[in-house]
Amino acid sequence: MSYLLGIDTGTSGTKGVLMDLDGSVVSAASVEYLLSQPRAGWAEQDPQLWWDAAVKIIRLICEKTSIHGNKIAAVGLSGQMHGAVAINGYGDVIRPAILWCDQRTEAECSWIDQQVGPKNLYDWTGNPALPGFTAPKILWLRNHEPKTYEKIRHILLPKDYIRFRLTGELATEVSDASGTLLLDVKNRRWSEDMLGSLGIPLSWMPPVFESPHISGRVNRETAKITGLLEGTPVVGGAGDQAAGAVGTGIVNEGCLSVSLGTSGVVFAAIDKPRIETNSSLHTFCHAAPDKWHKMGVMLSAGASMQWFRNHFSSSEDYETLVSGANGISPGSEGLVFLPYLLGERTPYPDPSIRGAFIGLTMRHEKSHLVRAVMEGVSFGLKDSLKLLQKEGIMTKEVRVTGGGAKSSLWQEILASIFNHTIATVNTTEGPAYGAAILAGVGCGVYDSVESGCKLIIKVNAEKTPDEKTVDVYEKYYEVYKSLYPLMKDTMDTLTRLA
Ligand code: XUL
Repeated sequence: MSYLLGIDTGTSGTKGVLMDLDGSVVSAASVEYLLSQPRAGWAEQDPQLWWDAAVKIIRLICEKTSIHGNKIAAVGLSGQMHGAVAINGYGDVIRPAILWCDQRTEAECSWIDQQVGPKNLYDWTGNPALPGFTAPKILWLRNHEPKTYEKIRHILLPKDYIRFRLTGELATEVSDASGTLLLDVKNRRWSEDMLGSLGIPLSWMPPVFESPHISGRVNRETAKITGLLEGTPVVGGAGDQAAGAVGTGIVNEGCLSVSLGTSGVVFAAIDKPRIETNSSLHTFCHAAPDKWHKMGVMLSAGASMQWFRNHFSSSEDYETLVSGANGISPGSEGLVFLPYLLGERTPYPDPSIRGAFIGLTMRHEKSHLVRAVMEGVSFGLKDSLKLLQKEGIMTKEVRVTGGGAKSSLWQEILASIFNHTIATVNTTEGPAYGAAILAGVGCGVYDSVESGCKLIIKVNAEKTPDEKTVDVYEKYYEVYKSLYPLMKDTMDTLTRLA
């Protein structure tokens, strides 16, 4: 019997999943770590944390199951996207990685806009310059840490750093590379025009492969410390959003997923790149060769709930916290939550916007606030759904995934706010599971990403919208939408004052 291993280097922790070739999860393990926020709006992590977590997880999984490395047919990697890992000529990390949710690069994004111009930006990369993306982070290092910048010889994405440690190979793949703002997304290769215009050497960027391609093999040193067999193939894998979509079976046009993870994402698989100038959606390569995807990314979805629990209800687990909100009526009795705790990306690329509860009265208790958080995050995701629909993306099927999707109440709220049936699938392991499927494609167990998904991913249960609630939420959504323009200037002032 052979098995496939997927490892996801996330923001709050690393997760590993071992599955058999039919897709049954044999074992899963996770290790958590913290995010460092040296200044408001900054987010960094030491890549060594990720590597230590990956090694621990591989060992844990093998020990728990007594499955030895020689039974693992291939490894797939996934990870938080956009992070910049700066490496010197000796292969050493030279500063903490700057992460996807870091907002320090507003000035660099404006510079990119001017330097490249909007038409070229979309022609060359398919996307706008957003503070979360990798290229502005590299430019920030050039502007603010010239000594570090001088030492850079390679730039890696978080999961690609794990590949480097596992195999010694510098490599990436198209889905994650799309989030650098340096990939020619249409043609699935580095954009020499973009790199040249920004003055970033092409030699810093690792070779870019299709996601299921075998990009390296476990080396002797890693085999010794992990128990994996030397020579085990490691496939490209995918950025966490594309890997999560593979793990939920979102590989055909018309299928959308909503991810309620730390970030919140509405993700649609598409057959052609369909690049729209001035769209605040991202257009990236999918992990299935010859497919692309569009997505809207909200920066704090599950993170909003995590923030609320950590600061105001840390003794309760999520299940207990959320169960209180069951008894609260839709609309949380006139309370609206704006989920902009980390600024926002879609639909408002705005690092200075801030979160808020609007409409508080003495009647509101903790459970109202919890429900308002779930509703506010769902309204924010509806903004992305609307943008996808405006760009002509069909919505035949919507599947929900991520930690927040475990809540049946949140699924119901989402179904009524989207006014669409929302399905859950038989797998809940997220991006690590998708990475394991990609490993299976790479080593020839499945013919293609699409056929692997078809074989193992099945719809589990569905929530349908409730007609009366849909009407209530439509009214609240109008209020929600009206708040961003009203609050923008005030929030800018508050951000400056803070
Ligand atoms: C996607 C994005 C986040 C991170 C963290 O564009 O920024 O989803 O990948 O998970």
